Formats: sequence, structure tokens, C-alpha cells
Amino acid sequence: MSTVFIIGGAGKVGRRLARILTEKGLAVHALHRQPEQAQLIRLQGAKPVSGSLTELDAAALATMMRGCDVVVFSAGAGGKGGPEMTNAIDGEGLKTAAEAAALAGISRFLLVSAFPEASRNESTSASFENYMRVKKQAEVMLAASSLDWVILRPGLLLDDKGSGYVRAGLAIPYGEVTRDNVAATLAEIIAQPRVSRVIIELTDGEVPVRKAVQQMAES
Ligand SMILES: NC(=O)c1ccc[n+]([C@@H]2O[C@H](COP(=O)([O-])OP(=O)(O)OC[C@H]3O[C@@H](n4cnc5c(N)ncnc54)[C@H](OP(=O)(O)O)[C@@H]3O)[C@@H](O)[C@H]2O)c1
Repeated sequence: MSTVFIIGGAGKVGRRLARILTEKGLAVHALHRQPEQAQLIRLQGAKPVSGSLTELDAAALATMMRGCDVVVFSAGAGGKGGPEMTNAIDGEGLKTAAEAAALAGISRFLLVSAFPEASRNESTSASFENYMRVKKQAEVMLAASSLDWVILRPGLLLDDKGSGYVRAGLAIPYGEVTRDNVAATLAEIIAQPRVSRVIIELTDGEVPVRKAVQQMAES
């Protein structure tokens, strides 16, 4: 059984993913930066690993990851701390994490990114435009790496209960998706290693998660 290292493990997607994976019997190590989040992570059946992407270099993060089989990067500054923090977490943080995975000998790497159409036709702030630029740069960096990567681009994230039904594809119309469905899709991508080196766009839809991921493996 695989051990999965989640960066952003106390986040809304990260903690849902941790729960799904531990219920399937996988071991999960979840990076978090606030001491009080350790208990939340333990409640998902996962092992808390304390550390901040703004303080860890690739070697230190690799030491934390060593022995794991898969890395999932679901961290993000979430607009807090302005463009500098977005650059540091969503941008440099991803770069550090990918380097760390390589140093730790972990090939499989999943990135939670963003749908390019997010907030199009709306008046967006300079900070949001920077966020979209940084997410794309992170994708470019990961796609150029030699890792066994998968980039998942969810639509607008919702906290509603997940339906278990999604639409996944190389290019699909923009829409909403529950965090439950994002986490379920990430767990299924981990279960289906044939899905590799591909960018998947994801919204809620009408196909069961397992089948949707299977279709990506066969495409
Ligand atoms: N909102 C949307 O509609 C949308 C759409 C598409 C994609 N996304 C992306 O989806 C991803 C997951 O979303 P989510 O809802 O799970 O976000 P979230 O709840 O904000 O989770 C992000 C996690 O990243 C962590 N983080 C921030 N700075 C960190 C640092 N210095 N070191 C380590 N961890 C750090 C946060 O820690 P703290 O808990 O300590 O803050 C948080 O746990 C994000 O990357 C987001 O950009 C969002």
C-alpha cells in the first residue's frame, strides 16, 4: 500500500483527500504549518508533519517526504499575503516541492492547479491575475520535469456534499466542482497510475469518479 505525502494537508481539499485515502487503508503524511492543525489531521487518520513552505528548502522537505510513494500538492496562499505570498506558495513552493520529491526518489506527483477560465468575463484584481499567472507557471515547471506528474485543474470549488459524479477531460467547459469530488478524483488518480503526464480539467458532472479517471487512463 502506498504512502501519500500531502502538501496543504490541513486545507479543505487536502483534509478531504487524507480522509478518503486513510479509509482506503493508505498511509498519509500531511504537511501543515499551524500547530493546532495537527489534531485535525490526526482525526482524518493521517500523520501530521509540521512545516511551512516559506521556511523549508528542497533538501529539508525531501527529508520529510522520504519513504513516501506519492506527493500531492494542494497548498495555496488563497489570496492571503498578497502577490508575494502567492508567488512564494503557489509558485516557489511548488518548485521546491517538485525538487524535494525528486531528491527523495518519489516520482509520482499530483498538482491541484486552477482552470484557466476561472473568473473570465468578470472584473478581477491584479492579485487574482497574478494568481492565475503563477498557477500556469507552476504547471509549466512541473510539466517540464521528469516526474510522473498529473495536473488537476478543478473549476470553482464548492463545500457542498460531493455527488461522486464528475466531468473530467483534457479540455472541458468551465464549471463548479465540490471539494469532495476533487478529493475523490485525486484519490482515484493515485489508484490508477496509468494516468500520467496529463493535464485534467474537472467539474461536477455525470460520470462516476472511478469511470471518469479510467477514461483518462485509456485516452
Ligand atoms: N477556490 C477555488 O475555487 C479554487 C479553484 C481551483 C483551484 N484552487 C486551488 O485549489 C487548491 C486547494 O484549495 P483549498 O480549498 O483546499 O484551499 P485551502 O483550504 O486554502 O488549502 C490550502 C492549504 O495550503 C496551506 N498553506 C498555505 N501557506 C502554506 C505554507 N507556507 N506552508 C504550508 N502550507 C501552506 C494552507 O495552510 P493554512 O491552513 O495554514 O492556511 C492550507 O491548508 C489551492 O491551491 C487553490 O489555489 C482553488
